[in-house]
Amino acid sequence: QRPVLRLLSCPGTVAEDLRRDEQPSGSVETGFEDKIPKKRFSEMQNERREQAQRTVLIHCPEKISEKKFLKYLSQHGPINNHFFYESFGLYAVVEFCQKESVRSLQNETHAPSKGMEVAIPFRSRFFNLKLKNQTSERSCVQMSNQLPPSSKKLFEVLCDAESVDDQLNALLKEFQLTEENTKLRYLTCSLIEDIAAAYFPDCVVRPFGSSVNTFGKLGCDLDMFLDLNETRNLSTNKTSGNFLMEFQVKNVPSERIATQKILSVIGECLDNFSPGCVGVQKILNARCPLVRFSHQASGFQCDLTTNNRIALTSSELLYIYGALDSRVRALVFTVRYWARAHSLTSSIPGAWITNFSLTMMVIFFLQTRSPPILPTLDCLQTLAELLLKEFFEYFGNFAFNKNSINIRQGREQNKPDSSPLYIQNPFETSLNISKNVSQSQLQKFVDLAQESAWILQQEDLGGPSMSGNQPWGLVALLLPSGANRKSLGKKKSRKPASEKVKVLLESIKSNRTENFTNTNGK
Ligand code: CTP
Ligand code: MG
Repeated sequence: QRPVLRLLSCPGTVAEDLRRDEQPSGSVETGFEDKIPKKRFSEMQNERREQAQRTVLIHCPEKISEKKFLKYLSQHGPINNHFFYESFGLYAVVEFCQKESVRSLQNETHAPSKGMEVAIPFRSRFFNLKLKNQTSERSCVQMSNQLPPSSKKLFEVLCDAESVDDQLNALLKEFQLTEENTKLRYLTCSLIEDIAAAYFPDCVVRPFGSSVNTFGKLGCDLDMFLDLNETRNLSTNKTSGNFLMEFQVKNVPSERIATQKILSVIGECLDNFSPGCVGVQKILNARCPLVRFSHQASGFQCDLTTNNRIALTSSELLYIYGALDSRVRALVFTVRYWARAHSLTSSIPGAWITNFSLTMMVIFFLQTRSPPILPTLDCLQTLAELLLKEFFEYFGNFAFNKNSINIRQGREQNKPDSSPLYIQNPFETSLNISKNVSQSQLQKFVDLAQESAWILQQEDLGGPSMSGNQPWGLVALLLPSGANRKSLGKKKSRKPASEKVKVLLESIKSNRTENFTNTNGK
């Protein structure tokens, strides 16, 4: 059985490469063909984009009657779908059945009269609805939640679960993106596309990263890719006879400079003309130049890049992995939450491990189970609980000093340089996706992984029934180190950390062979 990535030959065709193997002509059965998502990543993206183009965002008065609101908007055509949410005010997302309805609404919309200030006359799909008679409406709309649960709420849910395995799934359910949140992400990209289209009429702004790879949690940033491919390829194969017509263009010395120039003007447009885009920063000297801004109405922190197609491909790869089995996502969400709870990851860029690196580490870990869990899935019979413990044991004991993580081949390799953590970018194989991680941050990760493996090992001896009112299972792992966590020894051993780690290391050494034999047997 061949690991998924051996089948990949070139970027941009992940699903196709996988499907090619379905052909009976002498190909090897991989056992996971039926698990590949039926809807291709690009199909899903195109459908969602088309949906978003028929959708508008409306800032509503606080008191509004949903029925009257919908009746009023239906003048412009039938409505397919709508929801309300709160983010410093009440907002409605309304999806019409036809694009023409949006145009009709725009034609009937007034420019605001703002006294001393002057409005920039940009006709976006982001509106402000006002009541003519302030007192006549009652508030009776249902809100769709766009925020992750508080730790308190999460811990309550987790403590109500029946097993650590249940806890992992409950955590996934609480944090994963909702249908509405996904719609809002595509709508935000579509609104930005309208702005960019003022310069590049055929451009597409596509979401990538955790917003679309099925590993995003509520509140995660919105990564956008400004795709100018259509603009660039406009003239291909359209000439006849002996003539070849080319556009007159300005040339610059490198791809990077072109990227910087394009992002620079788009950044200016967002800052000056795009309603709701604030805090626009142009970060053009980064390895991958970007424009960062907040989209106030949706509450999303956005990173806009261009010339970054590889990132779209790795999003597709993770989309496929995420669809292979829900336990993959449960494990990734849990490891990410655990890392955040212990400040191994941060929303500020720096020497920390990123969520993307952590996701790759989980996938690598699942590939290197014996037999491999990704992609064969045969041994996904193994409980996620066991996988979480093994994940911590595996990386608590990984030879980071000499080995790198190679997702393409699903095996460890000698490190090509001295970066503390080396995870090869599967599509740009000369790059290390975790080049930023410092030795001390890596060490912190290893220490916490070892400690967490130890806590879960103790859990095997007890479980919810043993714990009384004490946090147990995942909750015990997720509490920040310090006062609370110290009480976690429960009724069990309270050995000092160094002692715990020593015991753990010994148990890992003796368990390693055992574990492999166990998993093999399943
Ligand atoms: N990416 C990459 N190489 C890196 C960092 C990022 O290829 N060194 C790509 C990945 O496709 C990643 C995407 O850029 O998914 C977005 O990066 P980032 O926002 O850092 O990660 P997310 O996966 O979106 O996770 P998060 O929820 O933390 O935003
Ligand atoms: Mg992201």
